[in-house]
Amino acid sequence: MLIDTDPGVDDALAILMAHAHADVAGLSVAAGNVGLGHTVRNARTLVDLIDARTPVFAGCSSPLVRRPEEDAAFVHGSDGFGDVGFPEPQAGVEDESAALALLRLTRERPGELTLVALAPLTNVALALRLDPTLPDRVKRLVVMGGAVTGHGNTGKVPAEFNVGFDPEAAHVVFEAFPEFDLVDWEATLRYAFDDAEFDHWLTAGDERARFFGQVFGTARAYNRQNDRSGVIAADALAMAVAIDPSIVVRSERRHVAVELDGRLTRGATVVDWAGRLKRPANANIALEIDAGRFAAMVRRALGIQG
Ligand code: BDR
Ligand code: CA
Repeated sequence: MLIDTDPGVDDALAILMAHAHADVAGLSVAAGNVGLGHTVRNARTLVDLIDARTPVFAGCSSPLVRRPEEDAAFVHGSDGFGDVGFPEPQAGVEDESAALALLRLTRERPGELTLVALAPLTNVALALRLDPTLPDRVKRLVVMGGAVTGHGNTGKVPAEFNVGFDPEAAHVVFEAFPEFDLVDWEATLRYAFDDAEFDHWLTAGDERARFFGQVFGTARAYNRQNDRSGVIAADALAMAVAIDPSIVVRSERRHVAVELDGRLTRGATVVDWAGRLKRPANANIALEIDAGRFAAMVRRALGIQG
């Protein structure tokens, strides 16, 4: 698979899962949760942790059109990794920029690679503008993004962060791909892990679990301040769907568009539930997931057997 990412605490968990369960051809990195300097560095820190040779490609440092209204440092920490203060990573960063890498790698392995989009869709949209035939060469696209009934997680109330950060990019991608799997924020909330599960990871897991425990510190404190517990891991859920689509117990195919203008709603995902627009469905929206298998995938990625 190819992973487009803005690490990010839940991106980190997703990338650990990918390395435990799949073959990762590259990490293309965008700005999002925090600035590009931090997200690229965090991707390199992850490559060090898993001792992989996975190439890291730096991509877009800002959205396609407008300045973002917010980042997510208040959840992920000002450096995106819980302000732990990790040392300078050993893993390098490639010269090739992310959008060009997405195009090249899919040309080298046409029809083989699943693209897992865990960040604002800026890099993927730019790649599509450079080469609109990209969808023909991607085996599957799995997107973590959107809030399918308007319960978002940003200041624009119905907008989810990845889509809200760069709505134009999401629009370009949703219009260009005839079909993609969508794992939205609302599904994420339904499949959060409780504190007991998180504590089990820390006691039974290996160095990957300890790493996750460290980077999750800021997010845990933020959750507690907001009367939430456990681990809300949006990107990990999307990664589970990417690794094994049969984990989705119920999904619905619908046309999904992105609101680009609304004063209160810019960045919202508008799902045509009733088919009024008469447009073909582009998104396969994951509604129910096998929670037990999701938990098992995460445990294995953190070094917990059985
Ligand atoms: C998404 O936004 C980011 O904060 C997370 O990493 C995830 O990709 C959730 O809305
Ligand atoms: Ca992310």
